[in-house]
Amino acid sequence: TAVNTEAPAPKAPTLPDAQKVTFVKHWTDRLFSFRVSRPASLRFRSGEFVMIGLMGDVNEKTGKAKPILRAYSIASPSWDEELEFYSIKVPDGPLTSKLQNIQVGDEIILRPKPVGTLVHDAILPGKRLWFFSTGTGFAPFASLLREPQTYEDYDEVVITHTCRQVGELEYGRQLIEDIKQDELLAELIGPDFHKKIRYYPTTTREESPKMGRITDLMRSGEVFADLGIEPINPETDRGMVCGNLAFNVEIKELLESYGLEEGANSDPKQYVVEKAFVD
Ligand code: A2P
Repeated sequence: TAVNTEAPAPKAPTLPDAQKVTFVKHWTDRLFSFRVSRPASLRFRSGEFVMIGLMGDVNEKTGKAKPILRAYSIASPSWDEELEFYSIKVPDGPLTSKLQNIQVGDEIILRPKPVGTLVHDAILPGKRLWFFSTGTGFAPFASLLREPQTYEDYDEVVITHTCRQVGELEYGRQLIEDIKQDELLAELIGPDFHKKIRYYPTTTREESPKMGRITDLMRSGEVFADLGIEPINPETDRGMVCGNLAFNVEIKELLESYGLEEGANSDPKQYVVEKAFVD
């Protein structure tokens, strides 16, 4: 009998749950997006998040390195071959100080266990769906805006994005442009793009066509006047919220004042909230 005497080739050390980086784009000195390969077995619902990260430095005492993992919304839709993420860069952030240096061909760690409440399953059917975001809170909506179900289930989608500066809106603005050019989504969106998707970007610390916090613009009624629509009504309007903590708290109060109630996967209602992830 033939015996294979060859010793197995030593394996190059690879990360647990490693995925390869396929694309990186820096939008501002504080923001970047990247794409990685998608594990063949990974199924998720548009709007969910996963834990991703990198190996930390080797601990001098133990001689071992531990992964540094953070929750990140998947910015790509459930049908995409790859996974996209949109991240802030925090100079002394344990993960993002390293993650911001990734290059095409590098590996990141991705735990394939998607979870989250910014999903269609967690809200009751309605006519108009609002996505309220600040900063990197746009990420889950980058997924949901490319999800066909969004347009099948709702007559209209309003996406609001509030950032400090104009440059921070660019990822979202580009995404809306890409959707306009997408042939498959175009069929669902129909001939009147701006009626089906209303994009409402605002800035708070740099001059732009629409300035102010979205919460203030809602209280004053300016948003509804600008869009030419009725104020939020619990019979027809549904909301998904993702932003910084203070924003989430404020907009929750606002939505409750319109009569909307917070839902969950196990108990769908009129709106859902999740915190935008920061390092
Ligand atoms: P502002 O510049 O007035 O603080 P950050 O980069 O700090 O996460 O903020 C992102 C955006 O969210 C900023 O435009 C910021 O406005 C806005 N923001 C912060 N807190 C609130 C809040 N409570 N309600 C509405 N918008 C907020």
